[in-house]
Amino acid sequence: MSGRKVALITGITGQDGSYLSEFLLDQGYEVHGIIRRTSTFNTDRIDHIYIDPHSPDAKLFLHYGDLTDGTTLRRILEEVKPVEIYNLGAQSHVRVSFDSPEYTVDSVAMGALRILEAVRDYQQRTGIEVRFYQAGSSEMFGKVIEVPQKETTPFYPRSPYSCAKVYAHWQTINYRESYDLFACNGILFNHESPRRGETFVTRKITRAVARIVEGTQKKLYLGNLDSKRDWGYAKDYVKAMWMMLQQEQPDDYVVATGETYEIKEFLDIAFSHVNLDWHDYVAFDPRYLRPAEVDLLIGDPTKAKQKLGWSPSVTFEELVKLMVNADLINLNLPTPDGSQREDNTLNRRNFATIVD
Ligand code: NAP
Ligand code: GDD
Repeated sequence: MSGRKVALITGITGQDGSYLSEFLLDQGYEVHGIIRRTSTFNTDRIDHIYIDPHSPDAKLFLHYGDLTDGTTLRRILEEVKPVEIYNLGAQSHVRVSFDSPEYTVDSVAMGALRILEAVRDYQQRTGIEVRFYQAGSSEMFGKVIEVPQKETTPFYPRSPYSCAKVYAHWQTINYRESYDLFACNGILFNHESPRRGETFVTRKITRAVARIVEGTQKKLYLGNLDSKRDWGYAKDYVKAMWMMLQQEQPDDYVVATGETYEIKEFLDIAFSHVNLDWHDYVAFDPRYLRPAEVDLLIGDPTKAKQKLGWSPSVTFEELVKLMVNADLINLNLPTPDGSQREDNTLNRRNFATIVD
């Protein structure tokens, strides 16, 4: 591997992209991110680490592009000359993927293929190794075949999103074996944080708790409360992505806590943290049901622990409380345990400098 520390991230404006950028900048990387052109800025999660690119201190650079636009992806690759690529970009909402299956598959499955093709050509032409990380998902396991789920558990995807992720997973392996690319799949179980998108169930709950305390929300409408998820802390999980690309050989890894909880247990901790009973506030709305559900996810992170030396640092209860606290702080409300802001991205906009 060359000594240059230049990374390219798709999905840099997302939850994981923002934590990974912080982590890589701390490791001394020059970080480049692909962002989509939008009519209003959507860079809130990375504004706090962005410095005007005209400054000699700038280490984070943004490029307009889209996973559905292969030409631009190739051009950015040629320009940036990264030694590591993290493919985190995706239409990542499982329920939405049933509404927009074509777009989801284009960005998730074809997007990964477009980057792999670009890397293959670039590496063949220049002889420079580019290490590639594919953001795979526990959703690929889908219908329960084996518990806990590990690298060898067969996939049974149950949504357009997870079918697309399975495609990207196997193409990553195919390119590794066919063209000798250093390409890794992370099979990451659910990971959450105060930066989690507001329509995923954990953040939807913690945001509602804060608004109920504030008095601006009366009810929280949810779908299926019986599914179980293996929830970890996003900051821990982005470190595992980087660790995979630092190994001698490329490989695929499950990243998980090894514990699973029902949505109801998340609700219990979140509401009781502010001395409320969720049964008084939660109502059912069938709109949030999926045509096919993934009932039980629980991962076996043994391989990541043994080979990468990775382990999660935040327990389920800590995760729920830190998310509730962050949403209370966002609304300038006191936290029950007196904790202060852990996250410096929210409620902050710095868009005067963000892009030309
Ligand atoms: P996220 O918050 O939804 O972020 C997704 C990112 O992808 C955003 O930056 C989004 O840009 C970008 N994006 C969407 N469509 C795109 C397109 N067509 N071209 C380029 N970029 C596009 O997701 P996340 O939670 O950070 O997850 C990161 C990755 O890990 C995703 O691939 C997700 O599927 C996968 N994953 C997540 C989890 C989890 O629990 N979080 C678990 C397993 C796998 P905008 O900001 O412009 O929308
Ligand atoms: N989003 C949402 N909204 N989910 C709800 C709701 C609701 O109102 N009510 C119940 N749920 C249930 C869903 O049916 C699902 O069983 C569970 O809560 C978790 O849903 P999400 O938080 O949307 O996450 P996900 O597990 O479907 O997908 C997330 O994790 C995957 C990894 O397993 C996403 O981040 C995916 O991108 C990721 O791959």
